[in-house]
Amino acid sequence: MFSTRVRGRLPSAGQAPARLAFGGDYNPEQWPAEVWDEDVRLMLEAGVDLVTVGVFSWAHLEVGPGDYRFAWLDDVLGRLTSAGIGIDLATATASPPPWLSTLHPEMLPMTREGTRLWPGGRQAFCPSSPIYRTYAAHLCRQLAERYGDLDGLQLWHVGNELGCHNALCFCDVSATAFREWLRARYGAVDALNDAWGTAFWSQRYTDFEQVLPPRSAAASGNPTQELDFRRFSSDELLANYVAERDILHEVSPGVPVTTNFMVTEHIREMDYWAWAREVDVVSNDHYLVAADPDSYRELAFCADLTRGLAGGGPWLLMETSPSAVNWQPRNIARRPGELLRSAIQHVSRGADGVLFFQWRAARAGAEKFHAGIVPHAGTDTRVWREAVELRQVLDAVAEVAGSVVHNHVAIVFDWHAWWACELDSHPSVDVTYLDRAHALHRSLTDAGVGVDLAHPEDDLSRYDLVLVPTLYSVTDTAVDRLLAAAEGGATVLVTYFSGIVDEHDHIRLGGYPGAFRDLLGLRVEEFLPLRLGETVELSNGWTADVWAEDLRLAGAEALATYVDGPAPGVPAITRHTVGDGSAWYAACRLDRAGCDGLVAMLLAEADVAPIAVVPPGVEVTRRTADDGQSWLFVVNHTDEDVVVEAHGLDLVEDRQAEGHVSVDAGRIAVIREM
Ligand code: GAL
Ligand code: ZN
Repeated sequence: MFSTRVRGRLPSAGQAPARLAFGGDYNPEQWPAEVWDEDVRLMLEAGVDLVTVGVFSWAHLEVGPGDYRFAWLDDVLGRLTSAGIGIDLATATASPPPWLSTLHPEMLPMTREGTRLWPGGRQAFCPSSPIYRTYAAHLCRQLAERYGDLDGLQLWHVGNELGCHNALCFCDVSATAFREWLRARYGAVDALNDAWGTAFWSQRYTDFEQVLPPRSAAASGNPTQELDFRRFSSDELLANYVAERDILHEVSPGVPVTTNFMVTEHIREMDYWAWAREVDVVSNDHYLVAADPDSYRELAFCADLTRGLAGGGPWLLMETSPSAVNWQPRNIARRPGELLRSAIQHVSRGADGVLFFQWRAARAGAEKFHAGIVPHAGTDTRVWREAVELRQVLDAVAEVAGSVVHNHVAIVFDWHAWWACELDSHPSVDVTYLDRAHALHRSLTDAGVGVDLAHPEDDLSRYDLVLVPTLYSVTDTAVDRLLAAAEGGATVLVTYFSGIVDEHDHIRLGGYPGAFRDLLGLRVEEFLPLRLGETVELSNGWTADVWAEDLRLAGAEALATYVDGPAPGVPAITRHTVGDGSAWYAACRLDRAGCDGLVAMLLAEADVAPIAVVPPGVEVTRRTADDGQSWLFVVNHTDEDVVVEAHGLDLVEDRQAEGHVSVDAGRIAVIREM
C-alpha cells in the first residue's frame, strides 16, 4: 500500500507493512476486454500495486450531457480490486469530449494571438469556463458517489497535469474572470494603475472593463499586467482543482486527493507553493530531457523541489517514462540500468512510490511511440525486465517509506520570481531563472552535500547555508527572512539580478540590488551585461560570462575583482559580515569551476560537511525516520565503479558495508545506517 504521512490522510498508513508504490497510468478503454485479463495477470507478475485509472475517460463515461456509462469502469475496477491492486482513480475531467465543445464552443481556449484551440488534442478547455466547470463538477460527483468507498481506492486524482496545454487562456471568458480577479486584488482601478505603472505609454485605465488579458500587442506589453495574468492563471487552474477536491472530500471522506504537478524545467505556469497547500499528497510527473546527456541532474533538482513542496516529504512520483517518450524531437530510449537509477533518485529524494506513464504502450494515437511497462514487443523485453527489477529493489528498500529528507543547505525558489525574471525587455536575454539554481544545485551535489528547496518567505534560519539564485523580484517579508537567517549565523549567497523589483515589478530605487543592498553591504550603479560568448576573468582565476556590474562596496569586502571586461578592478565576488553570519554576493555568471569553487568556500564558512565525499556524477542523499534511523542512498551515474564511505547494511545487495560500500558503474546502493 502507498503509505505517506503527507497531511496524514492516507488510510493505509500504519496498517499494512510499508511498501513503496509501483505501477502507473492504466488506460483500459483503449483495449478490448480480453487484454484486461492479461493486464491484471501481468500487473500481479510485475508486482504492480497502484494504478491510475480513468485520466482520459470522460468521453467513455459520459456519452452525452448527463448520459453516464459506468459499466465498463465497474468491470475494470472490480478486476483490479479482486486482484488487490490499489487504485488511484482519476476524476476523468482532463479532456472534455467532443460533444461538449460542439455544444459549447465558447469553452475552447484561445491563444495570445486570438487563435481558438480546437478539440482533437487534449485539454481543450478554457480554465475559467463556467461550462467546463459545471460539467466537470457533475462528472466528479458521479464518480465520487459511485466509487467513493470502493475497497482498494487509495487516492483520488483530479484532472491531469492541470495547465499542461491550456495554462494561459486569452479568450473573452478569461478576460471577464481576469477583471474579477483584479477587482478583488486592487479594489479600485487607480490602485491597479499604480501597480501596473500605467502612467507609462498612455496606458491609464478609467474602468476595470477596459482591462484585457495581455493579448498580442504592437509593442512590448505591460510587465505587471503579464505578471498578474500569470498569477491569475495559476489561481484559476488551482480553483478547478479545489472545486473537485471539495466534492471528493465531501462525498468520499478519508480518501486523499492529489493532482499531478509538473515540476520540470520546461513548465513554469503554476505556482506550486500555493498548490501544495491544497493537496493531500504531493505528486509529480517527471520526464528526462533527452537532448541533455546529464539529464539526471535536472531530475535531482526537480525531485528536491517536489520534496520542498511536500514539506520535506514523502511524496509520490506519479509519472515517468519506462524508456523513451513520444513528444520530444529525438526520443532517446533509456540506457540499460537507467530506469533503476532514475527511480531510485526520486526515492532517495523523498518519493514513496514510482509510477509510470504508462502501463501498456498504446496501439493508436499520438502517444503510440511512448514507452510502456508492457512494450509493443511484449514482456520478453529489457524494459519489462528492468521494471520488474525495480519492483524488487523497491521491496528491498521498503522500510524507507514514510521517512523524510532534511538538509543543512537550502536553495530559495519562487515561481513568481521565475515569471518576473523572464519578462520582456530586460538587460540581457541570457539571464534566465533556472540557470543559477541548477548550477548551484549541481555544485552542491558534486560536493556530496544535500540541499532542500525553500520558499523565500519560509523560516530560513534553520539552515546553515542559504543560496538565493536570481531572485529578481522579492517581497519585504522574504528580505526579512534572509536577513534574520544571516544575523542568526547562517551564510547567505545572493547571485546577480536579485532583489531588483518589488512584487509589482517596480524597481527598488537607490541602486541595485535594491532589496539586498543592506544585507550584502554594497551598491550597484549600473548593470554591465556581456556580449554573447564574451567572458571576463576574475582576480582569483575564475571565469564568468553573461553578466558583470559596476559595483561599489558599502561594508562588504571584495573576494575577487574583474581583471578585464567592462569593469576591471571592480569587485565581482563579495562577502559581508552580518550579525553572527555573512552575506555573499556573486555579481557575475561563474563557469562550472568557479561555481564549484564558490560553493566550496561557502560550505567551509557555513561549516557544512558532505554526506560523503564522491566524484562528480555520483549522488549521495540521506533519508531519516522519526526514530532517527537513516538510510544512505548512492546512485552511480558514471562508467566507473566507486567506493563510498558507508556503515550499515546495503539493502539492495544484502551485504554489510563496514566503513565503505563499493557501487558498480551505473548501479545504486541503499544503506540502512548503523
Ligand atoms: C504527461 C501526461 C500523460 C502522458 C505523458 C507522456 O504529460 O500526464 O498523460 O501524456 O505526459 O509523456
Ligand atoms: Zn479562456
